[in-house]
Amino acid sequence: MVQSTEPKTRKLWGRAVAAGNAGLYSSGTMKLFLDTASVEAVKEIAAWGVLDGVTTNPTLVAKEGKNFRKTVLAMCACVPEVSAQVTASDFEGMRKQADEYSGWHEHVVVKVPMTIEGLKTLAYCRQKGIRTNTTLVFSLNQAILAAKAGANIISPFIGRLDDAGQNGMELIAEIMAAWSHYDFDTEVLVASTRHPRHIAEAAQLGAHICTVPVDVFRRLPLHPLTDLGMERFRKDWESVSGS
Ligand code: E4P
Repeated sequence: MVQSTEPKTRKLWGRAVAAGNAGLYSSGTMKLFLDTASVEAVKEIAAWGVLDGVTTNPTLVAKEGKNFRKTVLAMCACVPEVSAQVTASDFEGMRKQADEYSGWHEHVVVKVPMTIEGLKTLAYCRQKGIRTNTTLVFSLNQAILAAKAGANIISPFIGRLDDAGQNGMELIAEIMAAWSHYDFDTEVLVASTRHPRHIAEAAQLGAHICTVPVDVFRRLPLHPLTDLGMERFRKDWESVSGS
């Protein structure tokens, strides 16, 4: 199994933990990211002590309608890894954006699409020490190419595969099985999650990171039996607390 942490990540983690706003016990476990462009949502979930990073994409940024750079910087103050996606589609444009975004803050991870131009950008970034996350990965071959080009993270989109009538989690199983044979230092990030079971299944497969939409993240701590149990404890305590 590939090691999920590397020195720079560990350093960043230490800093965020010292700031009191990252998942305190996350080193060596599956990291949990929030899939959003809402700074308020990042602050809300970061306060739980379980959040390791954020992924954004142009759709999420457009939905919030706020300044991209300011949004990314505000998130970088909360978590040690924030994926900021390039919008150019040619190598020259992506390279320029990668240089620009990575200069904003050391927590920025440049998100690059899984295209041939994207592969060139990944190789450029690896050479320059710019951290990258490859987005729109839908096959094992794409995962292998992105990892070989130097991606730090690859993001297979399981929900969109499910939507297209395939089993997205099978792709994660394929990638993790292939990874177990080699020494890729590329983390596998399960993206496009749609419901809480996706997160549990990603952990069972040993995925390194799972990114979770805000509404799904808010459901992760909940269980009806926990609520019932709390209610019963409260009532039982009230019945004797007066005596
Ligand atoms: C990941 O980085 C992407 O932002 C995200 O998971 C896409 O999910 P969607 O298929 O729900 O748009």
